[in-house]
Amino acid sequence: MAAPSWLWVPQLFLCLMVPSAAALQVEASEQVCGCCAGPMRNESVAAVFCGSRWDRVRRGRCCLEGDQKIVLGLDFGNCSLHRLCSSFQEVSTAFVIDLTDNPLESLPEGSFQGFTQLQTLALPLKLDCPGGSEVWKNITIQGNNRLCQDQRNPCNGSGGFDSLCPEGSLCTSDGPGLSQCLCVDPYHGYKCLRQGNFPYLLFFGTLGAITTILSALLWITQRRKAKTF
Ligand SMILES: *[C@@H]1O[C@H](CO)[C@@H](O)[C@H](O)[C@H]1NC(C)=O
Ligand SMILES: *[C@@H]1O[C@H](CO)[C@@H](O)[C@H](O)[C@H]1NC(C)=O
Ligand SMILES: *[C@@H]1O[C@H](CO)[C@@H](O)[C@H](O)[C@H]1NC(C)=O
Ligand SMILES: *[C@@H]1O[C@H](CO)[C@@H](O)[C@H](O)[C@H]1NC(C)=O
Repeated sequence: MAAPSWLWVPQLFLCLMVPSAAALQVEASEQVCGCCAGPMRNESVAAVFCGSRWDRVRRGRCCLEGDQKIVLGLDFGNCSLHRLCSSFQEVSTAFVIDLTDNPLESLPEGSFQGFTQLQTLALPLKLDCPGGSEVWKNITIQGNNRLCQDQRNPCNGSGGFDSLCPEGSLCTSDGPGLSQCLCVDPYHGYKCLRQGNFPYLLFFGTLGAITTILSALLWITQRRKAKTF
């Protein structure tokens, strides 16, 4: 039996969309990796991390996972950076980041939001570890650098973040010193107070009815106006 002829439409859609989505992600990480010229510096914590396993590859200033294009490490040391690159958020998958020997003035709040896997961050001495000293298990000073190591899970007991999440939700880490409350099934909505599935039929049914009534009203009133000319 031959396939229906209209099938080429979704197929074409898939052929166009899937590669471009993957390309977009690669492009984004390439943009960050190219934010600073030259290769990784061999003495960087990121280079040491990258060399510790055979299935990690260096590209420019980045350390990537095998062929998957995921950024695991980043050496932005000695890059004359006054602030972080605009696409810095794209490397939230990184385990190790080196920002030493840069004239960085400060790290804006939220710079590391979503960096849940970050375990080693090397900074110029004048900058503090993001989230404060309680967030890291081990902070050491090495020459002109500050090393922030082993991010604590802000949801873990004594931190106190856990108790801020309403009932029906779960505290999850969202980067150094940051947490978010995610509703657990079947709770949803504001403060996870609603239970059960989202009432799609009621929601869209009501929306549709209101739209229809408003359109009808407008049509009638505008028609009346038109007649008076
Ligand atoms: C840095 O490491 C790479 C690969 O491990 C090596 O080929 C290169 O010679 C090293 N460069 C310096 C300056 O040590
Ligand atoms: C930084 O890079 C410059 C060249 O661009 C080099 O001369 C200098 O020694 C480097 N400094 C450090 C601390 O690596
Ligand atoms: C803290 O980090 C330093 C430098 O990496 C390391 O030498 C030291 O053993 C660490 N201390 C703890 C308690 O993990
Ligand atoms: C939570 O805290 C306990 C003790 O403070 C520690 O043993 C455990 O490894 C922590 N778990 C995580 C996920 O950080």
